[in-house]
Amino acid sequence: ARLVVLVSGSGTNLQALLDAIAADPDGYGAHVVAVGADRDAIAGLERAERAGLPVFVCRVRDHGTRAAWDAALAEQVAAYRPDLVVSAGFMKILGPAFLARFGGRTVNTHPALLPSFPGTHGVRDALAYGARVTGCTVHFVDAGVDTGPIIAQGVVEIRDGDDESALHERIKDVERRLLVEVVGRLARDGYRIEGRKVIVP
Ligand code: GRF
Repeated sequence: ARLVVLVSGSGTNLQALLDAIAADPDGYGAHVVAVGADRDAIAGLERAERAGLPVFVCRVRDHGTRAAWDAALAEQVAAYRPDLVVSAGFMKILGPAFLARFGGRTVNTHPALLPSFPGTHGVRDALAYGARVTGCTVHFVDAGVDTGPIIAQGVVEIRDGDDESALHERIKDVERRLLVEVVGRLARDGYRIEGRKVIVP
């Protein structure tokens, strides 16, 4: 399966995918064909370039409206003919034009146990709320914010003395493994989405 990965930051989830594919290029069942970002000069793009992958940047400020940006991003992604799009730390909401083409085959990873703590500060919100456990969720993207059908989740204990970055690092350890496992399974075994249920044979 052809993967396009979208990043906005350090790209450690992307790196986990690249490492898993490199470790078993024939068995993993998918390979990354391009990496896209909504901003320049981020480690995620450097990781892609180091892996010799095509990269593209689609910035909101280069397009008159958010809708124009959304359509442009969809075009840039479509150029690589992905079977699956992986949003790994991509910090923009994918809009109607994008979802018209890639809805149902775009997965996102979120550092909280959805539906708890959606949005940009899921780690901080769980900590502030005093939750005892949190975790990460890999889900299909739909029109909402972190509301699409859930594929898999991983639980992470919140420890006394945790601050946001310590907790986020611990979550990312689980998240990277979960994303690699889920993307590989979707690519190798296929899947169906029935309402809110994701069936992977
Ligand atoms: C991940 O925890 C992702 O869920 C969240 O931001 C983080 C991105 O990390 N949206 P990285 O860029 O993959 O290192």
